[in-house]
Amino acid sequence: MMALGIDLGGTSIKTAVVDITGAPVGEGKEKTPAEDGVEACVEAMLAAAGEAINMAGLRREQLTGAGIGVPGVVLPAKGLVVEATNLTGWVNVPLRDIMSRRLGLRVELANDANAAALGEARFGAGRNVKNLVLFTLGTGIGGGIIINGDILVGANGMGGEIGHTLIEMSRPRPCGCERFGCVEAYAGALGIVKRAHEALAEDWRKHSALHEVAEREKLEAHHVFDLAWDGDFLAKEIIAKTAHALAAGITNILHTLDPELVLLAGGITKAGPRFLEQVRSMVGEMALRQVRDTRVEYALLGDKAGVTGAAAMVLAA
Ligand code: BGC
Repeated sequence: MMALGIDLGGTSIKTAVVDITGAPVGEGKEKTPAEDGVEACVEAMLAAAGEAINMAGLRREQLTGAGIGVPGVVLPAKGLVVEATNLTGWVNVPLRDIMSRRLGLRVELANDANAAALGEARFGAGRNVKNLVLFTLGTGIGGGIIINGDILVGANGMGGEIGHTLIEMSRPRPCGCERFGCVEAYAGALGIVKRAHEALAEDWRKHSALHEVAEREKLEAHHVFDLAWDGDFLAKEIIAKTAHALAAGITNILHTLDPELVLLAGGITKAGPRFLEQVRSMVGEMALRQVRDTRVEYALLGDKAGVTGAAAMVLAA
């Protein structure tokens, strides 16, 4: 039994054909045409799906179906993407039917972070845990809540939208969701880059090595992390603020749900153990005694959690 997983991210589309143990037997990747609308994204998803299926040496009809993780609010029962914060033109898209027709397969949808949480719960760090919360740290900040092994979808598909919980009330930063003060505006990759540009606009900070990078190429979150570990004063300051914002989001979740495990997945987790340590120690300072020692770890499946969880949706039934 094999299934196709598609992880539609703000930056890239990852696909994998996975077997019943969650292991990938074929993979694909395409850039997300995030600003080009739904059709362009559909075509890119199909291209990435084709790559994974070819690599697996299978024909489509040998697959049980395809699961898709979408970076936005999804109503799985209706097969509808209500909206996707960091993708242009994604409002009320009947993606399940569109993709099912194009792929000739049964298709299930989930929010991308919900899919990643399911992936970790079934095949990763959450295998022996009943209740877990997973944060995806990428272009946006997503969240997935697993209660007794199932995704908490919520009444409006908003279950687990931790990236849009509020952590700043006075002079809050604008978020991609068009509101203000969300965790994502502070700890998402876009937020990190924005913070860096703002800081570099102040003259006295121009002697940061970030300035040279910004002159040379498009500044990205990984540059800020790399320079922080090299000791650059401004990059260190930005990463500490990022960790602090994330820790506030985690603390709110600990105080709301008291899960057994909190997992961090997605691109930013490539930042390595030092970032995780910063986040843990800040949670330790902010959280109430009872939940202070809750395990906060990187997801075991790393950036494959989303794609594996997406496939898991159709492997389950
Ligand atoms: C979206 C979430 C999504 C997350 C990660 C956020 O901006 O609102 O729905 O899960 O990004 O892609």
